[in-house]
Amino acid sequence: TTNAEYFIIDDLLIESIFRPRQEFSHKGSYGKAAIIGGSYGKIGAAVLATQSALKTGAGLTFTLAPECGYEILQTSCPEAMFIAGGEQFVTKFEIDKEFTCGIGPGLGTHPDTEKSFLSFLKNCTSPLILDADALNIISKKTGNLKLIPKKSIITPHPKEFERLFGGTENSFKRLELAREKAKEYHIYIVLKDHHTQVITPEGNVFYNITGNAGLAKGGSGDILTGILTSLLAQGYSEEETCILGIWLHGRSADLASERHSKESMLPTDVIGEFGSVFEELN
Ligand code: APR
Ligand code: MG
Repeated sequence: TTNAEYFIIDDLLIESIFRPRQEFSHKGSYGKAAIIGGSYGKIGAAVLATQSALKTGAGLTFTLAPECGYEILQTSCPEAMFIAGGEQFVTKFEIDKEFTCGIGPGLGTHPDTEKSFLSFLKNCTSPLILDADALNIISKKTGNLKLIPKKSIITPHPKEFERLFGGTENSFKRLELAREKAKEYHIYIVLKDHHTQVITPEGNVFYNITGNAGLAKGGSGDILTGILTSLLAQGYSEEETCILGIWLHGRSADLASERHSKESMLPTDVIGEFGSVFEELN
């Protein structure tokens, strides 16, 4: 359709977006990231997202998770602060306005989680990162889509996309549908796939070409949520966050596959390569 612009995310674009850290800066210069998620048996998803936010430069990182994740999170992510939001799953979405929130990894879809998440959405005006079970909850009613704050970033995999917006015959039609919906709801859609696409509210499309099949494992999406939350907290625009975030995720996965193989690399190993990728950029 008309006026669509399609871009490949290349090194030049990334160099134009990346901002090195300033010498005279402090943790307040780099924002506050909050990961909201985790439930009994899925605390690992919150751990991965939190570690990922920590390792991509946010000034302060918090995790709002249920009490059953307290020791796990404080032990595996000592640099992050814990906010209790329930017992076995999150039932309280209470968080200061100054936080940039990434919601969904391991969240679960318990009716109490659903109720409190939807009322949080109704009262929220700042852009959010929405993934996984946050999207699954939204999918339950078409009317929920208009509760998503403008300029939010949603990160569906193909199945989650289908639950949100319906099925399409092929990936070209899916992209066209994504362009319509990004415009309609004024949101950024990170359509996760082998070549992930960022669709902006203006209907532009950015293709990512980093990443590999070693990412086809549980937890790979959770670390993307951590990256995006951290970059947005640091003051990158929503568009910059999506572009730099998915590129960094894929580039780190490419380094992890060289070191560990696509079979053996884990999301944790991908996090372990963020440092080398920042070294390349700096
Ligand atoms: N090539 C390149 N990238 C890939 C490939 C591939 N073959 N396979 C997966 N990826 C990337 C995707 O682009 C995406 O960034 O890995 C990530 C996978 O994200 P998710 O599908 O969200 O996977 P996951 O981490 O397992 O999600 C955790 O949330 O979405 C729910 O149902 C999901 O319960 C699961 C949880
Ligand atoms: Mg996922």
